[in-house]
Amino acid sequence: MKNYIKADEWNIIEEGFDPHLNKISESIFSLGNGRMGQRANFEETYTGETLLGNYVAGVYYPDKTRVGWWKNGYPEYFAKVLNAANWVGIGVKIDDEVLDLATAAVSDFKRVLNMHEGYLERTFTAKLKSGKTVKVKATRFCSIADDEVGAIRYSITPLNFEGTLTLTPFIDGDVKNQDSNYDEKFWDQVTDQISGAEAYIQLRTKKTEFEVCTGSHIQVYQNGQPLAIDTTEVRKEKFVGQTFAVAVKTNEEVTLIKIAANLSSENYPKDALLKETQSVIASAVAKGFDTLLQEQAAAWATKWEESDIVIEGDVAAQQAIRFNIFQLFQTYTGKDDRLNIGPKGFTGEKYGGSTYWDTEAYCVPFYLATAPQEVSKNLLVYRHKQLDKAIENAAKLGFKDGAALYPMVTMNGEECHNEWEITFEEIHRNGAIAFAIYNYIRYTGDESYLADYGLEVLISIARFWKQRVNWSNEKQQYVMLGVTGPNEYENNVNNNWYTNLLATWCMKYATEAAEIVQKQQPEKYNSLVKSLSFDQKEFADWADIIEKMYYPEDKAQGIFLQQDGYLDKEQILVKDLPASERPINQKWSWDRILRSCFIKQADVLQGLYFFEEDYDLETIRRNFDFYEPRTVHESSLSPCVHSILAAKLNDEARAYEFYLRTARLDLDDYNNDTEDGLHITSMAGTWMSVVEGFAGMRVRNGKLQFNPFLPGKWKSFSFTIGFRGATLKINIAENGINIKNNSTVGLEIGIRNQFYQLDGNAEIEVNNAALV
Ligand code: BGC
Repeated sequence: MKNYIKADEWNIIEEGFDPHLNKISESIFSLGNGRMGQRANFEETYTGETLLGNYVAGVYYPDKTRVGWWKNGYPEYFAKVLNAANWVGIGVKIDDEVLDLATAAVSDFKRVLNMHEGYLERTFTAKLKSGKTVKVKATRFCSIADDEVGAIRYSITPLNFEGTLTLTPFIDGDVKNQDSNYDEKFWDQVTDQISGAEAYIQLRTKKTEFEVCTGSHIQVYQNGQPLAIDTTEVRKEKFVGQTFAVAVKTNEEVTLIKIAANLSSENYPKDALLKETQSVIASAVAKGFDTLLQEQAAAWATKWEESDIVIEGDVAAQQAIRFNIFQLFQTYTGKDDRLNIGPKGFTGEKYGGSTYWDTEAYCVPFYLATAPQEVSKNLLVYRHKQLDKAIENAAKLGFKDGAALYPMVTMNGEECHNEWEITFEEIHRNGAIAFAIYNYIRYTGDESYLADYGLEVLISIARFWKQRVNWSNEKQQYVMLGVTGPNEYENNVNNNWYTNLLATWCMKYATEAAEIVQKQQPEKYNSLVKSLSFDQKEFADWADIIEKMYYPEDKAQGIFLQQDGYLDKEQILVKDLPASERPINQKWSWDRILRSCFIKQADVLQGLYFFEEDYDLETIRRNFDFYEPRTVHESSLSPCVHSILAAKLNDEARAYEFYLRTARLDLDDYNNDTEDGLHITSMAGTWMSVVEGFAGMRVRNGKLQFNPFLPGKWKSFSFTIGFRGATLKINIAENGINIKNNSTVGLEIGIRNQFYQLDGNAEIEVNNAALV
């Protein structure tokens, strides 16, 4: 755990340069705009510890796996988001010395991520070996107003000398993934072009043949006045740039503006990429850095209007929640239904930038409430587009007749996770995908989604479950053998309660969805039945499984059993584990973990979170009290579910305690792994802890309801929610709750157990005294 980020409501601030923290800060100060992103690498040369990272959404490489013992059905590759051309580079030479913070004496170093306006600023003073000292200020952003554009303003002021400053802005495509399995480089050059202030490089990925053209334009100013420069081309393998010298005097500032663009063949014909990049650069240059930055601030202002959470009385919590919201929107803006949310977003290489069930289980609720409806819809459509591949994936494993098994990890719909216990067994992900459809419709009321996309996915998923269960003669019930639940610290278990529950729920929901579509859009229904070769008898098969499914439980303790035999394990509690043995995934052998009762993340409790309406409070409490003390929370996705359930159980102290574990996870580097990248998907869980946990927000029967409490440390908190055309500002303070409707759409709102009519532009205030 670290504690070096300064608390501030709108900014992430690092003061002083500690090279040991650099990789962590590179993650924390990352920038992105949904289409591209990058770690906070320095513009100038840095020979110290760094993880260079620039990424372009949707552009990946199928790296050959390193699985030792191959098993039939394994995916051939592990897709990786690619380290793409580094466009931020600016070589800086002062007379004959290279500016490099690893060798210079650095003072007044400050890095600020301005979340309100969406830019990164870095200032420092560097004294070189010769004693020459410069002051530098670098500002950069990835524009969310124009998501193909990024810009840098880099200013250098000599403090104690006059001489020659040589600048070499460049684009370097000769980059490598740190996680490349065979040290291979993934890019080939297609073409390049350097002319005057502009430089372009077009690269092609090996195997997948994506092409990305990266271009840049430079302008130089001295003391605020444009400076004519005489550039020399710099061209190396997969590298383009210009170099030029400026005569500088003490205290005279030289500023380089570098405007860059990244365009990919996902959006343009390959042979037009260079021309299109030139035109994007031309229009960005015509606007200029200041206008681009204003547009950026305006675009972020809109995002914040829709999504901000204001916490009064706790600056560290305020900073943290905004950081989480900011990073989520930097990762995914929802404009493109081919893109998704990698667990590390654009902040690192771990997890390959691929899509996991994290999106459906954790991120969809966030985007539903904080962004226009298309954003979460696009996340759902992404899976619809990959349905054929999910059917192929299931077929590879021996399933038939249109059964779909979505992959655990994917880029293009194909499975690319390489551990059998996850690839073949962690099949609950299929249920999360169905649940997200339900969640989307429950929240938006958009039932037309079912006819257009949802039903096809639901039927295909239900078909998978039907084939995945088997009839047990002994039990005279259906069972599901050999699975891995969300708790990855158990593999190949029989009757994981959560997976069994999800399976039957999926069949129930697919049946209901079919009824809705049949009633509302009979023609579409009939054509779907035809195209899926759906036999009405399938409903009866599902009904039989729904009726006769086996769910392990321990009646004596009144708990559901995580899986058959869970109670045979030696029952030890996490509190009795010596601190020196944690985290167990680093300190224990895998074998020991598998045999222990310790739980990585919410499993039974994940089910109780999804389907809380089906269980009474005492059942939830008994299960919570049993499972939480056995849970090590070694997945960042774990504490938020526990926080929400604790809030539901009116255990405010624990709800807050779990929230704290997620809120500043990356800012304070809790798990010592922030340097690999940020935990983007669990950031959505932090948001859920506040909105579903502390505010107790739910949608029931098409209506929003709140069951709030105020964490003791806070004076108040408020947040904005978009719900069925209305924009609501909810404020929870010591004395009660206030909801303001900032739209013309009237709606009925539940607060605790009472319903209130909230007309357009009206406000309601319910005092704690009135809350029962
Ligand atoms: C968790 C999974 C999750 C993955 C990516 C793993 O550690 O156990 O549930 O999908 O990380 O975030």
